[in-house]
Amino acid sequence: MAAPQTLANRLVDGFGREHTYLRISVTDRCNLRCTYCMPVEGLAWKKRQELLTFEEIERVAAIFIEMGVTKIRLTGGEPMVRKDLPLLIRGLGRMDGLKTLAMTTNATLLAGHVEDLYASGLSQLNISLDSFKPERFSAIARQDVKVFDAVMAGIDGALKQNFASVKINVVVMSGVNDDEILDFVEFAAKNRVNVRFIEYMPFKDNQWTNEKVVTYKDMLALIGEHYQLRKLEDDRSAVGKDYAIEGGIGTVSFISSMSDSFCSTCNRLRLTADGQVKSCLFYPAETNLRDAMRLGATDSTLQGMILDSLRMKPEAHPPAEEIAANDNRAMIEIGG
Ligand code: GTP
Ligand code: 5AD
Ligand code: SF4
Repeated sequence: MAAPQTLANRLVDGFGREHTYLRISVTDRCNLRCTYCMPVEGLAWKKRQELLTFEEIERVAAIFIEMGVTKIRLTGGEPMVRKDLPLLIRGLGRMDGLKTLAMTTNATLLAGHVEDLYASGLSQLNISLDSFKPERFSAIARQDVKVFDAVMAGIDGALKQNFASVKINVVVMSGVNDDEILDFVEFAAKNRVNVRFIEYMPFKDNQWTNEKVVTYKDMLALIGEHYQLRKLEDDRSAVGKDYAIEGGIGTVSFISSMSDSFCSTCNRLRLTADGQVKSCLFYPAETNLRDAMRLGATDSTLQGMILDSLRMKPEAHPPAEEIAANDNRAMIEIGG
């Protein structure tokens, strides 16, 4: 067991930001190939032995919890392609000190598994969906059009389960799916769901251009012509700006990474599927916990490495053009 949280091992960075949220990628693989997420030519998947085992993930998670993490989100690639995922969820769900266990999924494998995930201890589910049009979905995800029905069945199942929250993530791209913004608002108005419109972010070879970014202010203006939105109080470290829809059941939010970044309240750290700590989504710097663990590092050595990684965390992410050109990993390998 790691030593309990002390002033010395608190996850506070050089800018006074306290880190309580860990995003754990459980696999770099995905069964979709979304244009905005992975390079056209694809990526070589990591070998099984390069990935952390469930035991290793649980060990690292316990260390982070000892250091003050209270929320863990499982990501991928697509987390549900990892074999026996509910076993990991059950293991993490039992950990003292963890208040929220969440997952971000593309929902292709969700239908039929929602109850099991909920029973295993998952409390919040975020689902990516970029279009209600099957052909368009298929073009964005570079997958067979029939996958769309599986995703919609998964979303339907999630909405029927009693999760603390279900959120739909829409990456808005000008000329690709921005004509569906009002359809997504309508979906939020009719369902107990939070639809989040995400500004398109640059990653290596992900077809990003500045012209394809639709800013949250433009989205707000468009929606405001058709719906009455009421600003809700934001959770301090949340990435979204939240709004209620007058007369509607659900809510909408805007994740404005490009036009109004939220780095100053960032509380997130990341663990990649191959065991690297990343202190910022957009910076290439990584700290290799996997090899240290496999060479016998103690929990306190691992804590020291985590704190070193936190010390290198930048105050804010670099400008978009710089991000698009740096040697950060592709989004699919980081998990968002
Ligand atoms: P909640 O815990 O429900 O607020 O979810 P989340 O927004 O933290 O996670 P999710 O996986 O649903 O990600 C939604 C979008 O936010 C994705 O586009 C992520 O890439 C983006 N995102 C998450 N964390 C960060 C971050 O630290 N910085 C930036 N710029 N974007 C982030
Ligand atoms: N810009 C914005 N959001 C992205 N996501 C993946 N790639 C990008 C990008 N380039 C989102 C996915 C998923 C979440 C983990 O990150 O839609 O919901
Ligand atoms: Fe897969 Fe999600 Fe990336 Fe799409 S955004 S390729 S679903 S990991």
